[in-house]
Amino acid sequence: MNTLLPACALSGKRLHLGVCGSVAAYKAVDVMRALQLAGVHVGVCLTEAAQRFISPLTFASLDAAPVYTRFFDDTENGVFAHLDPGSCAHALLVAPAAASTLARLACGDADTLLAAQALAFAGPLLIAPAMNPRMWAHPATRRNVEILRMRGASFIGPAAGRAACGDDGEGKLAPIEDIVFAAAAALLPQDLAGVNIVLTLGPTREQWDAVRFWSNPSTGRMGAALACAAALRGATVNAIAGPGVPALPAPVRRIDVVSARDMFAAARDVWPQAHVGIFAAAVADFSPLPFGGGKFKKADATELRINFAPNPDILAELGKCARPDQKILGFAAETQNLEINARNKLRAKNMRLIAANLLGASDSGFASDRNTLFVADCLGREEHWPAMSKADAAWRLLDWLSAL
Ligand code: C5P
Repeated sequence: MNTLLPACALSGKRLHLGVCGSVAAYKAVDVMRALQLAGVHVGVCLTEAAQRFISPLTFASLDAAPVYTRFFDDTENGVFAHLDPGSCAHALLVAPAAASTLARLACGDADTLLAAQALAFAGPLLIAPAMNPRMWAHPATRRNVEILRMRGASFIGPAAGRAACGDDGEGKLAPIEDIVFAAAAALLPQDLAGVNIVLTLGPTREQWDAVRFWSNPSTGRMGAALACAAALRGATVNAIAGPGVPALPAPVRRIDVVSARDMFAAARDVWPQAHVGIFAAAVADFSPLPFGGGKFKKADATELRINFAPNPDILAELGKCARPDQKILGFAAETQNLEINARNKLRAKNMRLIAANLLGASDSGFASDRNTLFVADCLGREEHWPAMSKADAAWRLLDWLSAL
């Protein structure tokens, strides 16, 4: 998840993190670290119960600032500790949120520092509950959740499973990636809300015999960064993923495919409803004609000749039937003549925008977390981008595409 967060958009944002008493309190550290690595400033308030599970020093040592622990006699953080997050943080996340804090937030009871800070906070409120399943299911908690939802709070989880006490049911802290994603989204503009995006990513795998296939080293990282950036901005994303593509954020609808033909069929299904098509997959242009006899045995031949048949060009086919309101962003990986090849593909495949990289360059391409791109659009604007994280490149490409 970390490498998917766009630091170019998140750095300088402020999150206030409330931590309640729970065995899951230590997980708040991982949430904080993931956001800090993307440049988010995190301030923390630990309830008294939280301090029984984890030390304020843990957060302070990891650059949380300020770290609030007490309502009164906290000279370090001044006399307005209960008001400060409300005036400087862009979002308030309570993770883990205990039943008692949910009750305080629901009825506006400001008798703990965290509850007072929440009462004085007018921005987005995110809550990741963690408690015993019976406490979560209790009508009092249900009512508190209902009240907070009606007021606009967003809940992340809880997840189902076996609680620390041994009880089974809903009440576990949501997965850390889900909490990090929701917190990042709350800090970012939702300018792609209502936009439907179809995205292809990763390699395709063209089977030849029972054990052998034709493929390429694409990892799907650029596509994953695009899926994440688009979803963080509120888009609905249908990600059609080839084999080996890493985990995508939970709000992304993932359709796993293997071959180029499967990928084409899946993309064609969702394309009519899409406003944007992003084609980041490294699709095999040809498939070997299947051997057809189980496993090919090397003892049966002295040489091997395989015939290949062409695959559909997914982008070109969908580009041909694109409506004027459908925008296409395509990619190209080249070994030479980067600009000329990119310009030709932009035109030939009816793209609005193309991002091309040179294969073999350091800080670029397959399996790297960074990319060095040449970007060109249908209006003739062109830019060479220096090496940057794929997450940042994805963010900037979406900015550019939105403006076209
Ligand atoms: O292979 P080529 O360099 O032409 O790929 C350029 C663009 O076309 C990429 O965005 C790639 O995802 C897309 N493409 C495709 N289907 C293919 C080949 C390429 O969608 N069979």
